[in-house]
Amino acid sequence: MCGIVGYIGRRDAVPVLLEGLRRLEYRGYDSAGLAVVYRGKLQVTKTAGRVQDLRDQVSDRVHSTVGIGHTRWATHGEPNEVNAHPHLDAAGNIAVVHNGIIENAEQLRDQLTAAGVTLVSDTDTEALAHLIAAEKTDGSSLEDAVLRALRRVEGTYGLLVLDVRCPDELVVARNGSPIVLGIGENEMFIASDVAAIVRHTQRVVYLDDTEVATVRSNGYQTRTLDNQRTNKTPTTVEAEAGDYELGPYADFMRKEIHEQPEALRRVLRGRLDERFATARLGGINLDARELRSVRRVKFLGCGSAYYAGQMGAVLVEELARVPADAEPASEFRYRNPVVDAETLYVAISQSGETLDTLMAVQELKRKGGQVLGAVNVVGSAIARECGHGVFLHAGPEIAVASTKALTNMAASFALLGLLIGRVRDMSAAEGSRIVAGLRALPEQINHVLAQEDNIATIAGQFADAEHMFYIGRVRAWPVAREGAQKLKEISYVHAEAYQASELKHGPLALIDASMPSVVLVPDDELFSKNISTIEQIKARGGPVIAVTSGDLPADLADAVIRVPHCTPELDPILLTIPLQMFAYHMAAKLGRDIDKPRNLAKSVTVE
Ligand code: AGP
Repeated sequence: MCGIVGYIGRRDAVPVLLEGLRRLEYRGYDSAGLAVVYRGKLQVTKTAGRVQDLRDQVSDRVHSTVGIGHTRWATHGEPNEVNAHPHLDAAGNIAVVHNGIIENAEQLRDQLTAAGVTLVSDTDTEALAHLIAAEKTDGSSLEDAVLRALRRVEGTYGLLVLDVRCPDELVVARNGSPIVLGIGENEMFIASDVAAIVRHTQRVVYLDDTEVATVRSNGYQTRTLDNQRTNKTPTTVEAEAGDYELGPYADFMRKEIHEQPEALRRVLRGRLDERFATARLGGINLDARELRSVRRVKFLGCGSAYYAGQMGAVLVEELARVPADAEPASEFRYRNPVVDAETLYVAISQSGETLDTLMAVQELKRKGGQVLGAVNVVGSAIARECGHGVFLHAGPEIAVASTKALTNMAASFALLGLLIGRVRDMSAAEGSRIVAGLRALPEQINHVLAQEDNIATIAGQFADAEHMFYIGRVRAWPVAREGAQKLKEISYVHAEAYQASELKHGPLALIDASMPSVVLVPDDELFSKNISTIEQIKARGGPVIAVTSGDLPADLADAVIRVPHCTPELDPILLTIPLQMFAYHMAAKLGRDIDKPRNLAKSVTVE
């Protein structure tokens, strides 16, 4: 959703800001803007269009060594030029860009209006500019003014402030919305997402909640809202500039699908222990005794992360014989959940920014629950809130549709299941079988990827379908849900997932020649049951695409996608890949904007 970028240093800020904003486009936005100091004045450019429109509008004559930029996803007020950030105070001295939501915005706007201030936009952010201006009395620093203003604010923010009267500094603040400072040679970068700055520097500092920083070209100083100085140690980000480039691919989703074998190797690296037939997950900070005392595991995530959690629940139950389930994090805090001290909660998020998941973690912590993060983005809000957990090491995921992160989520949960299993009843021989199965997976995924032409042909045969069913059983049920989700989000074809045995309890009424079903048929103990499912569908004239690792009777299905045999417990990881490719090629045939599907954002940072 919204994105922030800032620059102060020795080069021209305008191209740095525009390039940074372009790198943030993948997050989803509806308007963009920037402000720089030019000839002693704030020069602001905004558009209700794309970053390219902004680039076209910025005058070539404007140069500056300091500036701030923003991509906005509308929450307060429609997506037009006036509501786009940056917002200014009445005198035009102070410009702010802001991510997050100011909850007492209405109250603040009323107070400002009563004090004679005219607000020109419908946004919550504009109030911040006026508040800071009101606090910037003679002699006070911009940082002091920001601190005082923020003490009146309720809500979440990643905030970047530029004052034309202090062009050698920027002030930044964070509460619930990420802010990272990038350290260069006599230049500093600020962003809400390292994607915007990684081509300039990999040395970064993540601000913590309620922290404020003054950033100058030669460094930064941080303190908390209650005025305590803080010391930050810079870290090096894993990602490199090339990770954000398409390379030979037409879009990021296809690139990320093909990166899965390598991404999977990364998440497994150093975490498989052949000698003791177990997993090593140092980041979870739980010793064998603590792991033994876990009575239940509950996975929480949204969308695909929730489906990955369902895969995790099946894996943990099978491998560790500990009861496990998954719940959408978006529902969790609204139902006043019973939080149990003997349950291990796992918060799952690629971005680490999903507000619903973050709120679920906060609710859990408030109630004394122990929660681990399974997060891809290091330094993200959920990773920091959880404090310990498993990083997914999938590398940057740009396409809105999650692929390689989901695969690494499921693989991490296999590791977690293996680890808990091995401190309980799982034998060394069983553990070795799972370790070997995980080791074999990247190469098996390569075999699936090699079938892309076949999958694209099948997608071509079904691209005019208006509705589709995805059918799976037990381990394959979350795979079916994730497959249907992928198809819906990028091709806009309506898809529903059902458990195979549920078909006869209702949905079978919808089966006819216009309702194709993707049926998952792993070669496991339920193979013959799944054959019967296909027969039931075929008997009612429904076309079937079978995804299988077994030997299906000839001509049973209308189309077949083969996946290699793997360790049965790990089938969900392998079965997911062809469904990603099928959705991708359906969307491609239908001419969709695959990386940026309509109405969706990569990081959902609003309720
Ligand atoms: C996945 O394809 C979707 N874009 C979406 O469901 C996503 O998984 C969900 O919004 C959660 O995102 P997160 O993993 O970044 O928390």
